[in-house]
Amino acid sequence: MESQIRDIALAPQGHHKINWVKNHMPILNQLEKEFAATKPFAGKKVAICLHLEAKTAYLALVVQAGGAEVSVAASNPLSTQDDVVAALVDSGVTAFAWHGATEEEYFAHLEALAQTKPDLFIDDGSDLTSLLHSKHPELLADIIGGCEETTTGIIRLRSMAKDNALRVPMIAVNDAMTKYFFDNRYGTGQSAWDAIMRTTNLVVAGKTVVVAGYGWCGKGVAMRSKGLGANVIVTEVDPIKAIEAYMDGFHVMKMIDAAPLGDYFITVTGDKNVLTKEHFAVIKDKAIMANAGHFDVEIDKVSLAEMTVSHAPTKPNIEEYVFADGRKVYLLGEGRLVNLAAGDGHPAEIMDLTFALQALSLVHVLTHPELEPGVHSVPKDIDERVARLKLEALNMTIDTLSEEQAAYLNSWQV
Ligand code: ADE
Repeated sequence: MESQIRDIALAPQGHHKINWVKNHMPILNQLEKEFAATKPFAGKKVAICLHLEAKTAYLALVVQAGGAEVSVAASNPLSTQDDVVAALVDSGVTAFAWHGATEEEYFAHLEALAQTKPDLFIDDGSDLTSLLHSKHPELLADIIGGCEETTTGIIRLRSMAKDNALRVPMIAVNDAMTKYFFDNRYGTGQSAWDAIMRTTNLVVAGKTVVVAGYGWCGKGVAMRSKGLGANVIVTEVDPIKAIEAYMDGFHVMKMIDAAPLGDYFITVTGDKNVLTKEHFAVIKDKAIMANAGHFDVEIDKVSLAEMTVSHAPTKPNIEEYVFADGRKVYLLGEGRLVNLAAGDGHPAEIMDLTFALQALSLVHVLTHPELEPGVHSVPKDIDERVARLKLEALNMTIDTLSEEQAAYLNSWQV
């Protein structure tokens, strides 16, 4: 199939971006070498629906080095970098994506990706999985399986499984420890702030940051907010996570109480309407709102537009909303994943872990045809292998248990 992209002439700049991250992704470097020799995906078509920026492009090229025919589409219309996509096409990958795709174009690209009739796929947020199951069940019989990247996607997969609707084995990559410990926490913590700071160019120290949600991503955002010198408020619905946030040193309160206090609001809950009408009615003047959860549903943009007298773009990736009483608020990156809509996503060294898990989990699905349709964990040996490869890349060695110590740990008799 023909690629559908913005401009192939952008490829040279895309190659530079890919080369930069490649120099900082030693685990994928290792897998690329291994795959080039063993060709685990020989003769297989792999569809990748991820955020199309440089690190993802390198993953696509590693899978291609393993013998796959690779096609890609975006998992978010604002995270696509057109130069990177052009470089992928220049490298022999088929791509259906451009930055700023409308909702209709976004789904047309996913449809084109489905029509490549993949044997295996990688998804982020489960839009491709959902499209294949709802619109193209006829393609599922030939699909060996797939991998899902994110917390939100895995929640959707589990709902599908619960309804007996999931027809292929899916590996829940997000649930591996070498994923959420590092990508969700350190990746989101750093990349969300990187995007907010480069977009607003405003100070963080001394300000009040409200972090909605204290899952792994929320923990990372709260930790980095504190590190930047902010006063941090966490909002939660889970009583245990609320206590955890409190014991980690953060103020915990309801969003309605936090709304008049926050200078920055960062939503990371995975749910909708976290900031909505009642909060906008009392939100602090000049508050900056950003979302770091998968979908653009956490900040209720529709109500915000209805409640304000005007809204217009200011700096790139900042929309200014003005209330009748003169208060202004600013929404970053249209309320989409701020780290990707207004930044370059997680750092390369973090995505090295995540995408190594993706690559190895894809080989696992391919080589385990006995896997039943449903949601499967990343095998422990893959998780540990990725951790060991990371330690090697860091030139770090760790201790091993002596036989005596191992025996002691396994003993139970008094
Ligand atoms: N780059 C590619 N995929 C990403 C993701 N899911 N989160 C952050 N950065 C990314």
